[in-house]
Amino acid sequence: MDKDIKALLQRINSRLKYAHFGYIKEKLAEISTRFSTPVRVLDVGCGPGNLGLFCREVEKLEWYGLDLWSNELTQAQQVDSYAGLCQVNLVNGIPFRSDCFDVVICNEVLMYMPDSEMLLARFHEVLKESGRLIVYNPVSLTPNLAAGIKRIIRRWAQAKESIAWDCQTDWKKAVRATRINYYSYNTLVNEIVGCGFKIIDVNAFRIFRNRFRWFNKLENNVSYRQAVVSLASRFPRFASDIIVLASKASRL
Ligand SMILES: C[S@@+](CC[C@H](N)C(=O)[O-])C[C@H]1O[C@@H](n2cnc3c(N)ncnc32)[C@H](O)[C@@H]1O
Repeated sequence: MDKDIKALLQRINSRLKYAHFGYIKEKLAEISTRFSTPVRVLDVGCGPGNLGLFCREVEKLEWYGLDLWSNELTQAQQVDSYAGLCQVNLVNGIPFRSDCFDVVICNEVLMYMPDSEMLLARFHEVLKESGRLIVYNPVSLTPNLAAGIKRIIRRWAQAKESIAWDCQTDWKKAVRATRINYYSYNTLVNEIVGCGFKIIDVNAFRIFRNRFRWFNKLENNVSYRQAVVSLASRFPRFASDIIVLASKASRL
């Protein structure tokens, strides 16, 4: 195996940031056993293709990735898991016809979207009738407070080369997005339901978002990681991020 890929996989396996990847892989494996034909998976905001890489052993998956920045897409291409990659600004929706994907994965992307309901409604359209949606996103007990603080900080010091989609910065000069959309556990789940999905499962894997290098060292400890994951999955309402697995419910 390529040295860089091996190092990346090692990083994914040892960081709580990626603790939900195992869950996604398991769900994709379950889904793929029900199919004899390729399972079409859309990775929305695929970034450098970490998910496609991590799940590459799952058979029958046909990955498609969307992202805004070409450097991310170039890295995703190198992972060699994606049948198709496309440069798209999700703020304008997604360029696919209805009923063409078996799974849509939106991993840490809704938080950047000024109109997340529009995007969720598009996921509903592009999914096949028996399709599954997987959303992973940060949540907070006090989302309004967090959003207010972020707005003030942004006015005072917008992160360099970063864009918030509710402002007028030219995205071509930006290299990353700024979080503008803050959810609680309930508002995220309700928004997904409101866009026509039926919730199958909600789970969590970490209780706070690590901003300090010191914690990376702690996260190398397997017992620490297991303790955090077990705590978060027992009390998902107090977790810093949740994963929602949903099915497409017919809209009458
Ligand atoms: C936190 S990263 C998550 C990356 C990836 N899903 C993963 O699991 O590693 C968010 C991704 O969303 C992409 N993104 C943010 N805003 C976007 C937009 N308006 N259109 C397309 N992609 C966007 C970013 O380029 C970035 O790759």
